[in-house]
Amino acid sequence: MTERPGLWITLEGGDGSGKTTQAQLLEAWLGETGRTVVRTREPGGSEVGQLIRDIVLHHRGDIAPRAEALLYAADRAHHVATVVMPALERGEVVLQDRYLDSSVAYQGAGRVLDADEVRALSLWAAEGALPDLTVLLDLDPAAARLRLDAADKPFDRLEAEKLDFHVRVRDAFRKLADAEPERFLVLDAAASVEDISAAIRSRVADLI
Ligand code: TYD
Repeated sequence: MTERPGLWITLEGGDGSGKTTQAQLLEAWLGETGRTVVRTREPGGSEVGQLIRDIVLHHRGDIAPRAEALLYAADRAHHVATVVMPALERGEVVLQDRYLDSSVAYQGAGRVLDADEVRALSLWAAEGALPDLTVLLDLDPAAARLRLDAADKPFDRLEAEKLDFHVRVRDAFRKLADAEPERFLVLDAAASVEDISAAIRSRVADLI
């Protein structure tokens, strides 16, 4: 735990792992407990970030892996400085879809950049800031793909990557969690929505 007055929770996992559903449930529960919650995401949690999100997710054609890593890091730098830190200083709960672990998993393992370098880039961007809790929703990428197909929405640039890309991303997330067991709560995303949300609430309750 850090000495910031607020609480910073990030949700991580592959595409289709159910982060959004769990973030909504946790936000509602935190609201009931009387907390002020700032629900946000990367990429795209600020106005500048929205523009960057549009490039990284919807640009037609390739983006060089290092350029992609820098775009996510630029989004992160602005988001942490202008949205996350001010809310934490006000003592609020920041509930955030994706953070630097996504960069290490997607740009590091997925695009095959050096994981330590990608992490160092993000830490530089965010002045070293790390969340109090990171919930990893772990799911077999083949099962995740079935969920995404059923949702029948067009795939963005990352979702459209092949299965082996998503397998590398999943393995990287699990390695990150193993390396920092105090920060991570790893949950089986194939479990029921209710069981997962109860497990998250129980961990968050310990922190507030
Ligand atoms: P997400 O917001 O989860 O997409 P959706 O709106 O479809 O739920 O994430 C957007 C994509 O960006 C996702 O495929 C993961 C990817 N991503 C990275 O590759 N690196 C990063 O640093 C971040 C934050 C996301």
